[in-house]
Amino acid sequence: MISDRKLKHLEICRDMDVGHRRKTTHLEDVELVHLATPELNLSDLDLSTVFLGKRISAPLIISAMTGGHPSTKKINESLAKAASELGLGICVGSQRAALEDPSQEDTFRVVREASGEMLVIANIGAAQILSPERLSLAERAVSMIGADAIAVHLNPLQELVQPMGDTKYRGVLNAISDLADKLGVPVVAKETGCGISREVAKGLLESGVSAIEVAGAGGTSWAAVEYYNAQSKGERSKAEVAETFWDWGIPTAMSICEIRSLKQSVSIIASGGIRNGLDIAKSIALGADLAGVARELLVPAFKGNREVAARLERLIHELKTAALLTGARDIRSLKSVPVVLSGGLLNWIMQRGLGACKND
Ligand SMILES: Cc1cc2nc3c(=O)[nH]c(=O)nc-3n(C[C@H](O)[C@H](O)[C@H](O)COP(=O)(O)O)c2cc1C
Repeated sequence: MISDRKLKHLEICRDMDVGHRRKTTHLEDVELVHLATPELNLSDLDLSTVFLGKRISAPLIISAMTGGHPSTKKINESLAKAASELGLGICVGSQRAALEDPSQEDTFRVVREASGEMLVIANIGAAQILSPERLSLAERAVSMIGADAIAVHLNPLQELVQPMGDTKYRGVLNAISDLADKLGVPVVAKETGCGISREVAKGLLESGVSAIEVAGAGGTSWAAVEYYNAQSKGERSKAEVAETFWDWGIPTAMSICEIRSLKQSVSIIASGGIRNGLDIAKSIALGADLAGVARELLVPAFKGNREVAARLERLIHELKTAALLTGARDIRSLKSVPVVLSGGLLNWIMQRGLGACKND
């Protein structure tokens, strides 16, 4: 049942236009200042970084997508092989299907098998950790793939608009806090396309999370995915509600500023609509530590690991180009390059009283 739903989601994301329609990431409101005399060679650049205790060759991970249906194994293998080949990290999709049906475990295990020692992040839903068995569920998710950390996904919009979604969220921060206290691996909190506000980030940090993946609006819209899902089942009223919320959420650039404005030590993963290496460079200059990419890698993943690696290589090459053109030799210096903000992003920062949101 859950397994079939996972496959359906994957096919909708591959075949339909599930991007935000009227909303963007607002990374277009971030301008990096061109440096005509960079005093650097391309070979001088070292964009590697340490995230959740593991070194990755560039500030980039593959965001959570799949696993949980037999035909997702090959896709996870392609993603993990490419991540490993390029020295990057990967987060698996929600492991709920395998926690409920152990015959699906190999569709997740393949990620650790194919990625060797690289950074692998497990994944569980906020709705699952509300269960009194949360610790044992999370431990099983982590041990299933020898994970270095676990992501807890927050997807209230999707749950509200999907047929038979979980609509109970009371107690979610306490549950995250309990996991962060007892689990023994770092906890990452992630949205799935609606972004994280300053207030939510504050609560998450007080609950002990080590990193926050913003998954802001401007990329994949899960209301859109559920719109197509409900339509295909003839559930007209669900489809209408989903369509109303198609563009709901905090855009990615705004969410980075929201969290960084707290001035607290937390790793921020910029995600939601990251389409190229310039988006990554802008996100880092704005306050993120690294970026995550999901749907952009889905079509390549259906073709194989070479296609995924080629897409990731392009992203890294674009990121290096932006770094060189702003005179940034490494991630530290990229974080402090000047940015000029405009439009909706500047407006948001002023109205929300976020002040300077950069990493300084
Ligand atoms: C096909 C697909 C499946 C996804 N499944 C999950 C999931 O199981 N768990 C999760 O935390 N996020 C999931 N996501 C959300 C992504 O991790 C990411 O937060 C979101 O898609 C925004 O990134 P994007 O705009 O690059 O796609 C999924 C995304 C896609 C495209």
